[in-house]
Amino acid sequence: MWKRMREDIATIFENDPAARSVFEVIFSYSGLHALWSHRIAHWFFKRRMFTIARMISQINRFMTGIEIHPGAKIGRRFFIDHGMGVVIGETCEIGDDVVLYQGVTLGGTGKEKGKRHPTIGNNVVVGSGAKVLGSFTVGDNSRVGANAVVLQEVPPNSTVVGNPGKIVKRDGVRVTNGRLNHADLPDPVTQVCTSLQGQIDALKAEMEQMRKERMELVETIRKGGTREHDAQSV
Ligand SMILES: CC(C)(COP(=O)(O)OP(=O)(O)OC[C@H]1O[C@@H](n2cnc3c(N)ncnc32)[C@H](O)[C@@H]1OP(=O)(O)O)[C@@H](O)C(=O)NCCC(=O)NCCS
Repeated sequence: MWKRMREDIATIFENDPAARSVFEVIFSYSGLHALWSHRIAHWFFKRRMFTIARMISQINRFMTGIEIHPGAKIGRRFFIDHGMGVVIGETCEIGDDVVLYQGVTLGGTGKEKGKRHPTIGNNVVVGSGAKVLGSFTVGDNSRVGANAVVLQEVPPNSTVVGNPGKIVKRDGVRVTNGRLNHADLPDPVTQVCTSLQGQIDALKAEMEQMRKERMELVETIRKGGTREHDAQSV
């Protein structure tokens, strides 16, 4: 237990350059208080003492402004920065080395039963105010931008931003699908005209070819002299 607590404190020093001393971290980081309280609540929850677990969770919420359902499974080196307004649902599963900022909701859409909250992979950052809603997975090493509303699976190594959340980066490469470049908007009228002009040019070329062939045929018949009558009828 002490080893785990030391690891929690070290995690804060790793993630927050503002942390100065162990004393300060232990007494003034509400994210740490919420995590430790959750471990106690989760212990009771696993032993089916649901009411005690919920009471601890509610006291935790009152003290820190962070609501973690006692059923939520949280991995190692979890860090909640600032914390106020964070909500973590019952069937949520959080991997190792995850960072959440204030105002994050890991919740359900209200349409699902059973597993209805997200699974957050390892080494994921969820920016302040982001909502991740539903029973899908946010892949390892992904980043959810501040204020994003994520409603669909996020593949590993992705950055998702906006409402509704869109993947803007994957494996370090920008994804531009579905995003309009406002400096170079498509012009549908020009596109149709270009297509029609192409068809007219093709028809003209074909007619010119036919005309040449006809002239050659007439010439051949004239030179032959024997099929003069036929050549005139062409
Ligand atoms: C998303 C985030 C993690 C950056 O991830 P990244 O992979 O480095 O992405 P980039 O900075 O390269 O941004 C990629 C694109 O998303 C846009 N973007 C970044 N964050 C965004 C956000 N929160 N909302 C909307 N768009 C955002 C960028 O403008 C950029 O757009 P462009 O391609 O049109 O230029 C970061 O912007 C963020 O939101 N961090 C949260 C931090 C936080 O909550 N801090 C609170 C401290 S109290």
